[in-house]
Amino acid sequence: MEAYKKLLENNKKWASLQIKEDPEYFERLTELQSPEILWIGCSDSRVPADRITGTHPGEIFVHRNIANLVVHTDLNMLSVLQFAVEILKVRHIIVCGHHNCGGVAAAMSNQSYGLMDQWIWNIKNVYRMHRQEIDALPTYAEKHHLLTELNVKEQVMNLAKTSIIQNAWRHGEVPYLHGWVYDLRDGIINPVFEMNSDTPSDPIFELNNI
Ligand code: CO
Repeated sequence: MEAYKKLLENNKKWASLQIKEDPEYFERLTELQSPEILWIGCSDSRVPADRITGTHPGEIFVHRNIANLVVHTDLNMLSVLQFAVEILKVRHIIVCGHHNCGGVAAAMSNQSYGLMDQWIWNIKNVYRMHRQEIDALPTYAEKHHLLTELNVKEQVMNLAKTSIIQNAWRHGEVPYLHGWVYDLRDGIINPVFEMNSDTPSDPIFELNNI
């Protein structure tokens, strides 16, 4: 059977199981969503945001792209961010990278992948900023892991540079920003970085008139 047909079959089984376990399940979910968390993760099929966090429909608002990047010209990400912060009023934003990320590997290589080279440049720039620290490590695996962590940290800092987050922090303490790395080898998420409205901002990126 082709993979996509299996999905439709699984879906029917899943829907009937939900109703069996909780007859009002779908009725409740058709009401407006009020998730407290925005998840910005990698598109990688091995990192399903809800499965690895044990969350259910309605609990997390999700944006995924290659290597969980926060790029200030990405209209898609910015729209998700603005909606999550200003309308859903999420309390937490999580940027979650992962062990063995192909996007990070692409950034460490000198191979062209076509159009997506432009996207990968963002990670190469993180590498460039921390080249000495990364290149000092003895093995490829350690280098890859450190770049994964530094990339997550950089993306959290990119969030804090946006007018959306600066504006939210000017008016209150939420959202809290978190940088996490998911380890494919044991399924454990390791927090690596945090920012909140009290974190001193980089004066270069401060916007005073918003
Ligand atoms: Co990845």
